[in-house]
Amino acid sequence: MYSEKVMDHFEHPRNVGEIENASGMGTVGNAKCGDIMRIYLDIDDNQIIRDVKFKTFGCGAAVATSSMATELVKGKSVQDAMQITNKAVMEALDGLPPVKVHCSLLAEEAIHAALWDYSEKHGIKIEGLTKPKTDIGEEEVEEEY
Ligand code: FES
Repeated sequence: MYSEKVMDHFEHPRNVGEIENASGMGTVGNAKCGDIMRIYLDIDDNQIIRDVKFKTFGCGAAVATSSMATELVKGKSVQDAMQITNKAVMEALDGLPPVKVHCSLLAEEAIHAALWDYSEKHGIKIEGLTKPKTDIGEEEVEEEY
């Protein structure tokens, strides 16, 4: 049912954790399943994402997609990170079962929420970026890995 890459990122998620004084942090929630994802971005003066960490309180597909999404945005400019869609994350994972597609949306939205936080805090406009509807702000993520 799941690709080897999904299983690999689920069992060995990359970039799990927190970044203290992150340049941007975004937390999004899925109203249907209740899963929550938080992404921290460390962005340098040239608007390049130096580091990224995540915490996901959610299903295996949410963990795998967060992990892959962090790998895809690391080292990218904020503008390039903005272009990374859930489709790109799914492709990088060799696909997800149709019932799990919404989990990958959470990863895309968490990145957008973190970029939104960064743009607000630093007064920087990122082309095409809007605040995700699923942004739940500072709400605590209870579960940790
Ligand atoms: Fe909720 Fe996967 S079932 S994110």
